[in-house]
Amino acid sequence: MPKEFTVTPWKVEGEVDYNRLIKDFGTESVDEKLLQRIKKHTGELHYMLKRKIFFSHRDFSWLLDEYEKGNKFYLYTGRGPSGNTHLGHLVPWIFTKWLQDKFDAELWFQLTDDEKFMFSEKLELSETNRLAYENALDVIALGFRKGKTKIFADTDYAKTLYRQAIRVAKRLTVSTTKAVFGLTDSDSVGKHFFTSVQSVPAFLPSVLAGRNIPCLIPHAIDQDSHFRVTRDIVHKLGYYKPAAIHCVFLPPLTGPGGKMSASVAETAVYTTDAPEDVAKKIRKYAFSGGRDTIEEHRKKGGNPDIDVSYQWLRFFEEDDKKLEKIYHDYKGGKLLSGELKEILIEKLAKFLRKHQENREKARKELDKFVIKD
Ligand code: TRP
Repeated sequence: MPKEFTVTPWKVEGEVDYNRLIKDFGTESVDEKLLQRIKKHTGELHYMLKRKIFFSHRDFSWLLDEYEKGNKFYLYTGRGPSGNTHLGHLVPWIFTKWLQDKFDAELWFQLTDDEKFMFSEKLELSETNRLAYENALDVIALGFRKGKTKIFADTDYAKTLYRQAIRVAKRLTVSTTKAVFGLTDSDSVGKHFFTSVQSVPAFLPSVLAGRNIPCLIPHAIDQDSHFRVTRDIVHKLGYYKPAAIHCVFLPPLTGPGGKMSASVAETAVYTTDAPEDVAKKIRKYAFSGGRDTIEEHRKKGGNPDIDVSYQWLRFFEEDDKKLEKIYHDYKGGKLLSGELKEILIEKLAKFLRKHQENREKARKELDKFVIKD
């Protein structure tokens, strides 16, 4: 019997079988043919594509058909501001930044302070709104381009969003929100309504431009249910269905499977964590694929496929050769678990120092990125 797991926008549990998700959600896998087609335009492939961290998509081939005809696309992604940003959140954003550079695309970035207020029992709107702008600093810190990147918190861009959200809501029934999201009669009307708001950036630029512009949404696979609804409805409204490309989840530190959760502090590394604290967390909690004793490890080797330090390096070490060497050294018993952890610690310390510096600089740049109405 296959192991059970859950993947919804609000809950990820168990050992996720990504191939089964492709079948269950009805998406397409990112195959060699698509990769070669992307490479034709980008010159090189991002490591997250080569490593199948982005493993699934909807209509990416159509998007490239349009691009090749001169019909350029824009990017849309977002974040639900329920807490500080952790490394898992950065994964799709790092890739989105690459897409922005390679395709010279505008990015619309949604911060759903309304969603996190309506779905949380304890968060006040003032708090989710504050967190939205804290999270925005992490987005800016990754180097998105000024003038080509629009970041907005829903409740501060409400006049524009609301006028479009009601066009979606009018065509969205409660039977759909029950079937797609598993919402019930006891859930608030706010929850049933919310997906209408998340749909808007998938066609708003077309509304504002007065012509249809293709849209690509890079995101973690758990958000796919929203965009199934979006695609269906915006098509009826006369816009293009947004294309999407989906990534897997960064495993929690205590791994091996599942998704990093912001609410369990020891399983996550936040972008604001001091590098020394990150080192401590990794030494103490990182799930190891190593053997019980050094002798046994030297003889039989470790298992990189379940080792969280190795898994995290797959997400953050760009250099394929370095990563491959680590894989073989670990599997062959040459590299010990403790040593592997130190490689990760060093990599993250370097990344975080730079990120934190950029993040502080971003405070002064915020108003060059944020739009309000
Ligand atoms: N609902 C998402 C979350 O909870 C936030 C979000 C809004 C989003 N729009 C998006 C995520 C578009 C990915 C793509 O994180």
